[in-house]
Amino acid sequence: MTAAEFLEPVQADLAAMEDFLAPELRPQERFLGEYLAHVSRYRGKRLRPALVFLVARSLGRVTPDHVRLAAVAELLHTATLVHDDILDAAAIRRGNPTAHTVFGTEQTVLLGDYLFARAYELACRGSEPEIAVFLARTAQAICVGEMLQIRNRGNLEIGEPDYFRIIEQKTAALYAACGFIGAHYGGGGPRESGAFSEFGRNVGIAFQIADDLLDLTGDERVLGKTLGTDVGNGKLTLPLIRMLEVLPAGERARVRQGLLRNGHDGHAGHDGPPGWRALLGSTGALDYAHSRAGDFVAAAKRAVGSLGAIPLRENLEAFADFVISRNA
Ligand code: IPE
Ligand code: IPE
Ligand code: MG
Ligand code: MG
Repeated sequence: MTAAEFLEPVQADLAAMEDFLAPELRPQERFLGEYLAHVSRYRGKRLRPALVFLVARSLGRVTPDHVRLAAVAELLHTATLVHDDILDAAAIRRGNPTAHTVFGTEQTVLLGDYLFARAYELACRGSEPEIAVFLARTAQAICVGEMLQIRNRGNLEIGEPDYFRIIEQKTAALYAACGFIGAHYGGGGPRESGAFSEFGRNVGIAFQIADDLLDLTGDERVLGKTLGTDVGNGKLTLPLIRMLEVLPAGERARVRQGLLRNGHDGHAGHDGPPGWRALLGSTGALDYAHSRAGDFVAAAKRAVGSLGAIPLRENLEAFADFVISRNA
């Protein structure tokens, strides 16, 4: 199933979310117009809202709460990207200059804060305060994940448990929340909410592993964002963690030296020892990361499978496959 095919049942819902979001992003102050226009012009893939709606449609009903909270998820996500691009010193996002390269860092920190606050306002508009609290906690998890990643910048001894702790929080928590919201307002009980949270969590982990692979192997023009920022900023992701783990001790020390020189490949020339880029392939580290991502996709499918023969199960499975097969 292509993305267009698995998203077909939720296209109208995604359009409803855009209609809901557009007036919300109208500026309360005239000068804010150019900032918010920047944010609304450059749309991403809308995967988190799509997940909310796919789950809701699978359970049988899409409500105004879904539309509102899918918009909250997308606003939260956008706020984190606005800030993340400052943290990662990235120049391009969604095929366009990043907000901080256009508006400067000071205004962009505040723009991100403003988007977070808009998201909370919308989250609080519903009749269940505990859902707003839940989303606030999700936003906290994203911040904690990003903070943990920054704390580990330059830590060349970071291991898999730390890596997974970071991506569970910075990425998977929001996907899990989207699965939960889809089920909760779709009429699902605790069994459905639990299964779809688990689906979202596993999809989110797989998504981030794939994203980290694309940071090393993807095409900037296709992805529309600056790549190579992880190693360049001293952030080791799963492929590099694995590569260092399997290298013999002497070689590991040599490669770490290269990485310490701000991501320098450490390649000693034509006849010299291979640099870390070549070693990613030859040590099997890229394949390993692909395969770990596949494990989480399989776990996501098992979570949905636990609910039996539900409508749109194939679409949900295709969604899970897509997050690791995508090139954009
Ligand atoms: C990018 O997410 C940020 C990560 C969590 C890795 P997406 O790839 O979903 O970004 P957009 O919204 O489509 O631009
Ligand atoms: C994106 O993370 C931000 C969050 C997950 C909160 P990354 O830095 O890994 O993603 P890209 O590559 O910039 O999109
Ligand atoms: Mg980042
Ligand atoms: Mg980034």
